[in-house]
Amino acid sequence: MIKVSLISLGCAKNLVDSEIMVGHLHQAGMTVIPDAEQADVVIVNTCSFIDSSKEESIGHILEVHRNRGLRKRRQSQKVIVAGCMAQRFSTDLSTALHDEVDAFIGLDQITQVAPIISGLFAREAAAAPVPENLVTRHSTYIPDYDTPRFRLTPKHFAYVKIAEGCNHPCTFCIIPQIRGRHRSRTVASVVAEARQLVTEGVRELNLISQDTTFFGMDTWAERPNSRTPVDSARGTALTTLLRQLNAIEGDFWIRLLYTHPAHWSDELIRTIAECPKVARYIDIPLQHISDRMLGAMQRETGGGYIRDLLGRIRAGIPGIAIRTTFITGFPGETDADVDELCTFIRETRFERLGVFRYSQEEGTRAAKLDRQVPAKTKEARWRRLMALQQEIAAELGAGQVGRRLRVLVEEPGIARGEADAPDIDGRVYVPRSLPAGEFADVTITGSEGYDLLALPPGETPAVRRAARQAQ
Ligand code: F3S
Repeated sequence: MIKVSLISLGCAKNLVDSEIMVGHLHQAGMTVIPDAEQADVVIVNTCSFIDSSKEESIGHILEVHRNRGLRKRRQSQKVIVAGCMAQRFSTDLSTALHDEVDAFIGLDQITQVAPIISGLFAREAAAAPVPENLVTRHSTYIPDYDTPRFRLTPKHFAYVKIAEGCNHPCTFCIIPQIRGRHRSRTVASVVAEARQLVTEGVRELNLISQDTTFFGMDTWAERPNSRTPVDSARGTALTTLLRQLNAIEGDFWIRLLYTHPAHWSDELIRTIAECPKVARYIDIPLQHISDRMLGAMQRETGGGYIRDLLGRIRAGIPGIAIRTTFITGFPGETDADVDELCTFIRETRFERLGVFRYSQEEGTRAAKLDRQVPAKTKEARWRRLMALQQEIAAELGAGQVGRRLRVLVEEPGIARGEADAPDIDGRVYVPRSLPAGEFADVTITGSEGYDLLALPPGETPAVRRAARQAQ
């Protein structure tokens, strides 16, 4: 029986692709094992977002190759490179990694991974000399509810990819060129998958795509005879989806990740407010607030629009926690732009915030812009923004003390609240006795940096200490 090991890098969208590959490997009767050294085939599912992701991907490929060279027994091991880096650079990499890689597969080949592996062993018998490049140029694949998939996340949460690809023109981003045009699944397909996941005991559905707020809008645009223009259909499909997910029986959260500010609507705000299972949390990458920068980034939004939208979101969804990300050091960014961003962050007091240093990515329009910002300046601006957020996060954390909170216990001693998405946000430290994978009600007793400390209601640190001493 062929043993396969898979190394999954990059974001949650790539992780879902890994899960689909593993699902298809199982279906074909192959065994998936964690230890790459023991495998007949190693798949590296790569990321290519910025330079550091590419370096990490190449590092893993070289390490797998080095290890197979060291072990005689494993010299026949095959290496397959999948994911965003393969999709983007397979032609160049087939030459550069001639000895290290046996095949490159793109995003549209993830469901064919098992026959591709069988083909590699058949090819070996024919002594094929070069890596196979099976990547097709424009990705069009999108999974369905019945696509074989083996979840790699803990039992209690799952990522649900509601769409793939991206139609936005952001000048700094390479992902639309990698993942192709936006294509949505149907509401029925996503609901069928969600229903199944909830039946399996999943407590949190994390809806993902490049832009979840664009969900369904591509299908409106593609209907030539539709009398509903795209603009008035804005967000309709997503609100329908959220309402139908909310109606599924069971105790679970629905978390909306990767929204784009340009596609929010009052109907979406109302829908979130009216659907109790939708977490009071939104992920809305804004990238900047200065009109000059937003224009240069082609973000399809301006500072005034963003301020107004956030005001409407906060007013319309009481208790909402807002996560955003910004990019600093974009070409042409001045100190005045950063000052404006700092003022905006101070005024808005985002509950969760990340800052990226701009990365000059080959193949993007921003890479060709004049006035690239020196690395040292980017670093200083990043530090300034992060220091500001640290202050705000500490104040917000301290303000939570005494509040009751419903948390989802991740593992003994560590939980997350509605305001914390898996892997990216803070933690809530809870007693180890609370069962993992289940919801629990706690009271916040303290905060540390981005994290909170909490105990079951009625317990205080002193009561708990006394109880422990009495044991
Ligand atoms: Fe994700 Fe990296 Fe691809 S961030 S979409 S795996 S380039």
